[in-house]
Amino acid sequence: MRNKVIKRWALLTMIAVLLLAIVGCNPTSQAETEEEEAQRPIIVQGPMPIEAEEFAQRLEDVKEENSGTFVFYKGTLDDYPVIVAKTGKGMENTAAATAIAIEKYNPIAIINQGTSGGHDPELNVFDIVLGKRTTNIGSLKTANKDENQGIHPTEWKPMDLMASEGSAGEDPDAENIRYYEGDKGLLAAANAVKDTYTKGKVVEGTIGSADVWNNEVDRIKWFHNKYGTSVEEMEGAAGAQIAQAYDVPYLGIRILSNNKTNGGQYNPDTAAANQEYVYQVVSEYISTKKAE
Ligand code: 5AD
Repeated sequence: MRNKVIKRWALLTMIAVLLLAIVGCNPTSQAETEEEEAQRPIIVQGPMPIEAEEFAQRLEDVKEENSGTFVFYKGTLDDYPVIVAKTGKGMENTAAATAIAIEKYNPIAIINQGTSGGHDPELNVFDIVLGKRTTNIGSLKTANKDENQGIHPTEWKPMDLMASEGSAGEDPDAENIRYYEGDKGLLAAANAVKDTYTKGKVVEGTIGSADVWNNEVDRIKWFHNKYGTSVEEMEGAAGAQIAQAYDVPYLGIRILSNNKTNGGQYNPDTAAANQEYVYQVVSEYISTKKAE
């Protein structure tokens, strides 16, 4: 009887020791979770090769990964993980590349950057707009007209596809402009280094996106007055919408490569200039993350 009790105690003690050992070497200890959290990468998106490859070349220890047509250059900047994503042009490519990057890499923040066309006559080629707000300028509802009543784009209303899960065509609450706010931490980092940029000015503004290149100055003016757009491009609002869906901090940073409203001729060298500036922004953001 006494022997049996001793054996049971010995068994229980062994189990307890084993359990303690397992807990002790648990790979997701708190310190390691914090380490992983600190190492969540920053993603820098660029649509065209000239808008992504310059930045990718400046990363250390780069490994290239592909998913569909999207290219991810995984490397480090100031010993912190940064992934440059070459997304391809347009809203669909950007939305898909953003969702894939979030699912695959669990980023701490996303910067969408590249060239744009001016809507504000005060802005010149080589000036940079920080997207305090980004909005989809292709999401529109036309007026109700019967046959032979014509086409009237200035009567078109903004359409907010995020207003509800019901029909946007019927819902009067959907006739509003949806703005995606730029992340405050990313904006602060961008503002902190704006003096390093000497090729033009850096201002906060509104980025309008659609798979449309507007060359009609009156139409550009219509967007500028109605939506407050500073520039237009073809990606920012798509990335912003997906980043918001996953609650990931996001900022658009766009250089003017052309401005029809003041005669600013297209200059492809702006793409490289923007990447140089965004490199400073990312470095600044990393230093604030390391200090936290
Ligand atoms: N209108 C629309 N997109 C523009 N881009 C540069 N300027 C403009 C403009 N005026 C950018 C888009 C897209 C590519 C055609 O260049 O974001 O990636």
